Amino acid sequence: MSLSSSGRRAVVIAGLRTPFAKAGTLLRTATAAELARHCTRELLYRTELAGDQVDEVIYGQVISSPLLPNVAREISLLPQFPRTIPAYTLNRACASGAQAVSNAADQIRAGHADVIIAGGVETLSDIPILHSRKFSQILMAANRAKSLPERLGIFAQARPRDLKPVAPGIAEPSTGESMGESAEKMAKENGISRESQDEYALMSHQRAAAATASGRFLNEIAPWFGGKHLDEVLTSDNTIRGDSSLEALAKLRPVFDRKYGSVTAGNSSPLTDGAASVLLMSEERARSLGYQPQVAIRSYAVAAVDPGWQLLMGPAYAVPKVLRRAGLTLAQMGLVEIHEAFAAQVLSNVQAWSSVAWADRLGLPGPVGEVDWSRTNVLGGSIALGHPFAATGARIITTLAGEMVRRDVEFGLISICAQGGMGYAMVLERVG
Ligand SMILES: CC(C)(COP(=O)(O)OP(=O)(O)OC[C@H]1O[C@@H](n2cnc3c(N)ncnc32)[C@H](O)[C@@H]1OP(=O)(O)O)[C@@H](O)C(=O)NCCC(=O)NCCS
Repeated sequence: MSLSSSGRRAVVIAGLRTPFAKAGTLLRTATAAELARHCTRELLYRTELAGDQVDEVIYGQVISSPLLPNVAREISLLPQFPRTIPAYTLNRACASGAQAVSNAADQIRAGHADVIIAGGVETLSDIPILHSRKFSQILMAANRAKSLPERLGIFAQARPRDLKPVAPGIAEPSTGESMGESAEKMAKENGISRESQDEYALMSHQRAAAATASGRFLNEIAPWFGGKHLDEVLTSDNTIRGDSSLEALAKLRPVFDRKYGSVTAGNSSPLTDGAASVLLMSEERARSLGYQPQVAIRSYAVAAVDPGWQLLMGPAYAVPKVLRRAGLTLAQMGLVEIHEAFAAQVLSNVQAWSSVAWADRLGLPGPVGEVDWSRTNVLGGSIALGHPFAATGARIITTLAGEMVRRDVEFGLISICAQGGMGYAMVLERVG
């Protein structure tokens, strides 16, 4: 199933990310290009790969700067690379990093490339703040004016409301509903209690804190040196709250429905800055360059639901789709990684996977299956580790591949919900 007709398959050689930081904290002055270049440069060093071996760079970014629309090309212009490596940036919302890896795998399978760096970056500390359409038009007209009086006359057309800055919201363009409001709606419609959301969030933090304390992420994180004198050092994610408790979580007020809601800052993923890169190769090239291929991409799938319905329910569709493509079942997955946008979204989707009614709705012979939490998000997830939108997929692929090797597991599953009602899923397999 994993091989193309040409017998080529893409293997994950290694991945590396910046530490993830709550937006507005240690990475607040870094640009997307700096973060992405930092972890990619370090990935090259750690894998001892010569830059001229790389055929392409594919990166994801959800909220990009109009001044830097193709961050992938800024990466492929690192001094470690020749100037001739093509690069493009894509946007599949929160699944962008995973989509970049999928596109890389497709290119490798097709025989168009042998070595690709794929990943994603997000700097929510550096979102583009725009002028209103009316004020932009005034500025453009003023620029064309032939005299000072004409220019002043054009500026005089501006009203105070035209000067109000326009910032991108984390909301669905087609409905205006924010991701948090959608999570709130899903909690209510699917009967996900506040207690179960808080318990889930606590598990995410406790697992992430334990994994970090054990040093498990050291080979996946390139420490960041910030501040004027490079003396603000970040070696792990500053979003993890190992000291959280059910009592503390229970005290937090709902954010998106203050009166009747259950989604809080504690059971949501935080707004985060960070970047993550993954090095992929064809199995043959990996071996010829002296790498030991251990994990390959077996299949991936994307699905979409009506964004006006339950916006973050895409994985309920994408996961059965990818399992069918892989010719495998949920029970065969030794490890599962679910992106945690909100606890309510994770719990809604896993409830759907185990439900007969959902199986009927999807035309499946039976439910996808029960999630075994001893094999799922074993090192915590986005609620604790943070969620720099486009970087998350690349983080998950790196962590899952590493953990599959560590635990000697044959198959691993990834599930990601994304804006636009999309769901993304991938199956990784061990290389024999
Ligand atoms: C939910 C959200 C609005 C909260 O933002 P915020 O108010 O900046 O969050 P903070 O980290 O300051 O937390 C608010 C409070 O909760 C507390 N808190 C947060 N997590 C906690 C935890 N696990 N345990 C205990 N307390 C916690 C904080 O200490 C803080 O308390 P304080 O006000 O006394 O300082 C923001 O994280 C968000 O928008 N998340 C969703 C992002 C999103 O939509 N992603 C897209 C996914 S598809």
